[in-house]
Amino acid sequence: MKLKHFLFLMCFLLAGEFAVNAQQKTLVINTKTTVAPIQSTMWGLFFEDINFAADGGIYAELVKNRSFEFYKPLMGWKKTGEEYAGQFQIVNSQNENNPRFLRIESLQGKDLGLVNEGFRGMGVSSGENYFFSLMARQDQGALALKVELVDSTGMVIGASEVKNFTGKWNKYETKLACSATHPKASLRLTFSGKGVIEIDMVSLFPEHTWKGRKNGLRADLVQKLADLKPGFLRFPGGCIVEGHELETRYQWKKTVGDVNDRKLIVNRWNTEFSYRNAPDYFQSYGLGFYEYFLLSEDIGAAPLPILNCGMACEFNTSELVPLDKLDPYIQDILDLIEFANGATTTKWGKLRADMGHPAPFNLKMVGVGNEQWGTQYVDRLKIFLKVLNEKHPEITFVGGAGPYSDGQDFEYLWSQMRELNVKMVDEHYYKSPDWFLKNAGRYDNYDRKGPKVFAGEYAAHDKEGKDAESRNTWKSALAEAALMTGLERNADVVYMASYAPLFGNIKAWQWRPDLIWFDNLKSAATPNYYVQKMFSTNAGTDVVTALVDGKPLIGQDSLYASAVVDSKTSELVVKMVNVAKKPVSLTLSLDGKQPSSQEMNLQVVASQNLGAFNQVGKPEEIAPIEKKQKISGKKIIVNLDACSLTVARIPLKK
Ligand code: AHR
Repeated sequence: MKLKHFLFLMCFLLAGEFAVNAQQKTLVINTKTTVAPIQSTMWGLFFEDINFAADGGIYAELVKNRSFEFYKPLMGWKKTGEEYAGQFQIVNSQNENNPRFLRIESLQGKDLGLVNEGFRGMGVSSGENYFFSLMARQDQGALALKVELVDSTGMVIGASEVKNFTGKWNKYETKLACSATHPKASLRLTFSGKGVIEIDMVSLFPEHTWKGRKNGLRADLVQKLADLKPGFLRFPGGCIVEGHELETRYQWKKTVGDVNDRKLIVNRWNTEFSYRNAPDYFQSYGLGFYEYFLLSEDIGAAPLPILNCGMACEFNTSELVPLDKLDPYIQDILDLIEFANGATTTKWGKLRADMGHPAPFNLKMVGVGNEQWGTQYVDRLKIFLKVLNEKHPEITFVGGAGPYSDGQDFEYLWSQMRELNVKMVDEHYYKSPDWFLKNAGRYDNYDRKGPKVFAGEYAAHDKEGKDAESRNTWKSALAEAALMTGLERNADVVYMASYAPLFGNIKAWQWRPDLIWFDNLKSAATPNYYVQKMFSTNAGTDVVTALVDGKPLIGQDSLYASAVVDSKTSELVVKMVNVAKKPVSLTLSLDGKQPSSQEMNLQVVASQNLGAFNQVGKPEEIAPIEKKQKISGKKIIVNLDACSLTVARIPLKK
């Protein structure tokens, strides 16, 4: 062989070897010893009434402004009938919680009525039945009511009637069968005859709701939550807990009991962002604290209510309750614990039972404040914790690290949380995908003796596009997956994590990205949703070490990984993220228990189109696929696609 050829061959072999070294890393997984248990709460949900997540979203009520309590009492309604044929009057009855009703005087015998537009229209389905109800009192004469579902061309697609109104306030109900599917239907009410009638709480619900509960939640949306098998449900937010000012803070006691008596208030996201104003955004509280607890129970999630700590949003008014006036706020938490867990002989436990749930809701965690910062928060938290820890040592009270992921405010709050012996600290980060990749090792050096971490709100924020869902790119989801391997690897410190926010109505959102997008009839799982699902449905029971050259895999060759065992199914579960635009092979070397089968299951989500996103009503661009791979021996080679998340489930010998 000529020297030239020899050198060429050597170069080729060496280059090949380097290439093999660079591509074929070996992840040594210790299957004999576990590092820490994975908390059952590890992967959970953050629900906030933002983006029309409650009214106009998961709460299946189709009538907007059903009780005429919006600032403009006829917002969402249009009057029908000949001009001067009668009168429409808004009466303020001084009833504390539901003061207004509508009085219709029709004394010429001509038809008069109203049309409700719903929440950017009403989504109705062919073959579905709709329950219509209203509170009414006939003051004079005799009027009959025609109730119609009308599509946007004016065609009637469902009809019924209500008659024989009496002179006392009563609830009247009827059922409408719908003959067509329409995303933007409306509800038309027409009164005929001569007389005067007063109406309130005009309502329309589909018959089929989540678990068939009358006047309940949208089944398709709750199903998406249930499919995540969430460890916890945080509610009701978010900034909504704080209110723009204290007056508009979330007060759970006003959200329980008879829906007719739940006092509607403005939603703080109504005018929060001038570029996304939603003047028709209010909180009817049809979805209130009882329903949140029930929802948590239904989907197997531990309830985590967050309550106000005597502070309004610090980004808005920073309104504070003086330190010596916090008692009612603390009492709210004590009463909530009684509502959730108390005996049915107690005041609040009895209300829970009267509402239909005598058994306790098994509340174990309560958040005190949402995104507060500064000494004003710490001073208040101290006062809360003194009472709460003493009265309820069985409950974990969660403190917050504020809105920032690091920096002076963050450090200050963490130091105070340690001093106050807070059991769990809520961290928030809405950052670029790049930040997520760089922070995949964020918790590796956290103090193991201090409070546990609740990554309570996080999402990678990618560039914005025209479509509502366009910020939920595959790039953002992949970056979250990389960071989540770091959450999992540190399960001895990170006890809980939730993507935020959860829902976005494509026609009425304020904040994006969101985990699930929906319109009036359909919904879309985002790439971020699938990443959450791949982690939460493969949570395992214990973390094990997974090391390359003695170190965790945090970005070497653009790879990230974590591993758990599932002692219930006797499996090793490995999550691997490849953020490079080329495929790569990773060798898994099992140190300890060996595979019990010659096959493993893989779930893979991959796309080289990092800008891809899923849209409501369109075929999915990004979705996981499942496959099987033959395995033999101690070493398993997994081929990781370019830009992918792969979850491998390997059956282990006992
Ligand atoms: O998730 C949206 C908002 O982000 C939450 O309400 C708040 O806590 C955070 O600032």
